[in-house]
Amino acid sequence: MLTILIASEQTARLAEIARLCAQCGSFQTLALTEAPARIASHASQLALADMLVIAHDSMGPAQMQGIEAMRQQHPELPCILITDAVEPELLIKALRTGIRDVLAWPLDQNQLGDALRRLQAASTQRRRRCARLVSLLSCKGGAGVSFLTGNLGHALAAQGGKRVLALDLNRQFGDLVHTICDRTPPATLPDVCAQIDRMDAAFLEACLTPVAESFDVLAGAADPIKAASVRKEQVEWILSLALPHYDFVLVDAGQAIDPVSIGVLDRSDRIGVVLQPTIAHARTGRRLLDILRALHYPDDKVRLVLNRDDRRNELDRASLEQICGTPVWQALPEDAATVNAAISHGEPVLAMHRRSAIGRALQSLATQLADAGEPEPRAGGEPSSLRRLLLRVKAA
Ligand SMILES: Nc1ncnc2c1ncn2[C@@H]1O[C@H](COP(=O)(O)OP(=O)(O)OP(=O)(O)O)[C@@H](O)[C@H]1O
Ligand SMILES: [Mg+2]
Repeated sequence: MLTILIASEQTARLAEIARLCAQCGSFQTLALTEAPARIASHASQLALADMLVIAHDSMGPAQMQGIEAMRQQHPELPCILITDAVEPELLIKALRTGIRDVLAWPLDQNQLGDALRRLQAASTQRRRRCARLVSLLSCKGGAGVSFLTGNLGHALAAQGGKRVLALDLNRQFGDLVHTICDRTPPATLPDVCAQIDRMDAAFLEACLTPVAESFDVLAGAADPIKAASVRKEQVEWILSLALPHYDFVLVDAGQAIDPVSIGVLDRSDRIGVVLQPTIAHARTGRRLLDILRALHYPDDKVRLVLNRDDRRNELDRASLEQICGTPVWQALPEDAATVNAAISHGEPVLAMHRRSAIGRALQSLATQLADAGEPEPRAGGEPSSLRRLLLRVKAA
């Protein structure tokens, strides 16, 4: 999926262009609140884009100079300009700086669609290092999503030598960071979202909690009130900044199926549905799996992760798989003594009890993930899952 960076000082204009772009095809849009005169200073945002749309009401000399400076630094980035008055003189100047199209504001959706298609034909998805994105979620509270996300991240970094970020997307009481370390996070997800306009890779790094070498956590919202301000586009921005810097980004999606989490699940290479071997977990797990199927995630992307597996399971493995309609991908053992000791010390399991049952299971899961190779290239041109789900609901 191509990423369009939309830059404008005017936030209403930004939102309207993002809305129209989404209607023109399957693009990922990122917003940058900035005037053309200063756009060249946003190198890390520009590096994330495959196409650039710049919008400003009037294009004076300072604005054009800003665009020229940006074009010199990023000559390969195809660009459209949107402005109020499209005078012939402006057209000539814009085309000289290498801008492909100049459109008039208010925007005509068909004209924008045609311009984006021309840009798309000229652009190639820029090759960037990209982490594998793995999301864990559950159908019931206390399934073990935060514990597994944090400890799997640590196992991938400590044992597999991978660079890992764990992102706590849980919007109830995000506590992932406290399951593996006792540091106070410098910032949380809502703090980062509140400053998204000035966020770049260096600023994001300063907001992370370093848990171990090559393993960082972006702490979750401390409470649901703060979490209410987190929006889908902001989380997409954060992912776009983080993915090029890590080998793995693991997301604790909690129990949420909403636009924010669906945006992340859409981009995930793998989705782990965490449940425990009980009838209640199997029943609600089945409903969650059905929703993920309705979102058209392929079966090999969605995997069942059985946590707290024990000889005395309330529900045996075969019955659980039958209710869920899918086999268990990974089973992690019940190991209350080790897990509780690690959580109460604020340490990852592998730092304390490497040879415990849960420690060995985490190492095996980390090895499987690390050995699974590079992610498949993401297909372009598909509507997002949220849109597909809404279309289905409308049609029903
Ligand atoms: N494999 C395990 N063996 C024993 N205890 C476990 C195991 N996994 C998790 N637990 C226990 O379950 C508790 C809840 O785990 P965790 O906080 O990760 O669940 P969660 O799905 O994130 O819950 P929430 O819905 O509150 O976000 C942990 O504090 C730990 O005590
Ligand atoms: Mg949790």
